[in-house]
Amino acid sequence: MNWHSGIIPLESPVKAERQAARRHYGVHPYFTRRPPNVVRRYILHYSREHDVVLDPFGGSGVTAVEAFLENRVGVQNDINPLASFIARGIADLSKGQIAAYAKSLDSLREECEKQLMSIQRAPDVTVAGFRKKVRLPPNVELPRSADVRRYYDLFSPHQLVSLAILRQAIDRIPDRYAGRAMLLAWSATLAKLNKTFLSAVGRAPSRGGSSIFSIYRYKVAKEPVELSVWPTFCERASNIIAAKREIDKTVELKRRTSGWFGRFESHARDVEDLCDDFRDAVDYIFTDPPYGRNIAYIDLSVLWNAWIGQLPDLEKRQKELIVGGDLGISESTYLTRLGDSIRACIAMLKVNRWLSVVFQHWNTLYFEEILCAAAEAGADLRAAVSQVGDPIWSMHKKKGDESVLAGELILTFHKTGKRKAIRKDAAFDLSRVLGQILSDMDGREVYGEYLFNRVIIEAWNRSAIGSLRVTKEEFTRLLRSHGWRYDQQNHYWVSETHMSPTLFGRID
Ligand SMILES: C[S@@+](CC[C@H](N)C(=O)[O-])C[C@H]1O[C@@H](n2cnc3c(N)ncnc32)[C@H](O)[C@@H]1O
Repeated sequence: MNWHSGIIPLESPVKAERQAARRHYGVHPYFTRRPPNVVRRYILHYSREHDVVLDPFGGSGVTAVEAFLENRVGVQNDINPLASFIARGIADLSKGQIAAYAKSLDSLREECEKQLMSIQRAPDVTVAGFRKKVRLPPNVELPRSADVRRYYDLFSPHQLVSLAILRQAIDRIPDRYAGRAMLLAWSATLAKLNKTFLSAVGRAPSRGGSSIFSIYRYKVAKEPVELSVWPTFCERASNIIAAKREIDKTVELKRRTSGWFGRFESHARDVEDLCDDFRDAVDYIFTDPPYGRNIAYIDLSVLWNAWIGQLPDLEKRQKELIVGGDLGISESTYLTRLGDSIRACIAMLKVNRWLSVVFQHWNTLYFEEILCAAAEAGADLRAAVSQVGDPIWSMHKKKGDESVLAGELILTFHKTGKRKAIRKDAAFDLSRVLGQILSDMDGREVYGEYLFNRVIIEAWNRSAIGSLRVTKEEFTRLLRSHGWRYDQQNHYWVSETHMSPTLFGRID
């Protein structure tokens, strides 16, 4: 038996350590970032040094960067150019000299600090004069859900001009890697220097965030806070230098122990197109595809993509795996593509290698698509781990709504290369199965997500995934009819008849 086929799948959840996350992931905001320690645990378990580890829906690059820092070939892909810009930017912090980074920041300070401070105080006419002299991005239309129509409406004239001046100075930095690092810091600064930025109540004005990441739309603050440009950039640039120090240390440690041979590459393509280059070439895939309608990544990234000069064309936008967005992509298109993407992932894996897919949604059809596509493409489901009870809950969950799903299911498949015909329409009595699962709980408190995930896997194991259709309202009604109630404060379900202090499904 070879090393990869002998792997015993991970069956227990891994506690997310967001606070202890490696600092480099904090250098630039992105959507739905996975906890790095969980991703790292999966990479270390399912792959060896030198292996090719791919994340085809890579987002800001947690999988590929972790793989790279663990002496693998980390392959990042994401259809959204911003995602691969961030991932590549983080991986490239391993290049160049820290002294050159610090020197570049010093020379930017020399060149820009005073000018930016004086622009901040200047009257509008003076700023308008500057505006004619700087290079600005195209004034593109914003997503339909935005409060304002065009790109420039997102900024005050002062912000727009200041960001352009800073960007031009960065473009003139002679050291290639220091220049890229400063560009990453500048791009991260964009999130704070626009009208969607809201200060957090009771904290320093700079401690807040953009509505782009909290409610996933360009909501303009009623009273926008205008942070000073230079200190905001400087803070970001200092974070980047600290991240470089951390990455250099990791690399150096590897060099001294096992030797350093990590490699990183990045792509900005549709998953299926990627398959042309990676067929039968990958040792492990860890990925987290978009969950239906939640976030229109490309629409929301226009703030960055316009200014880094990488706005995706219509063909690419049409291939984004989402429901809705400005192009109004239908659910049936999403479903077809979801299945095709899973098939593409299996096709990219070598035989006897592993694929982990992170997913969560109330729509059982989505799970059906993933599970059937994998089996039909020649991969067996070998583990299904509920990562629930994470201390970081979604905003809606915090408001105490039992119908919101927080946490995910990590489905891990083993590629055997033997395609299977799927039977999926056996009878499935949801109430009975749920009753059995609840009785296993022995009266312990349990997270709704855990129960829902168990039901999905039961239906799959009983060849009945196609017969399982349930809305979130029906699911919660069923739980109540079995004598369980939702604890609004703690976000778990409690048996009316048992009172026990242990909580089931918590990751300790
Ligand atoms: C849930 S996010 C991944 C986040 C990532 N796990 C992280 O930790 O940063 C899903 C990603 O899939 C990307 N995506 C959507 N459609 C795609 C497609 N057809 N091909 C490749 N990537 C796609 C989105 O741009 C988004 O960044």
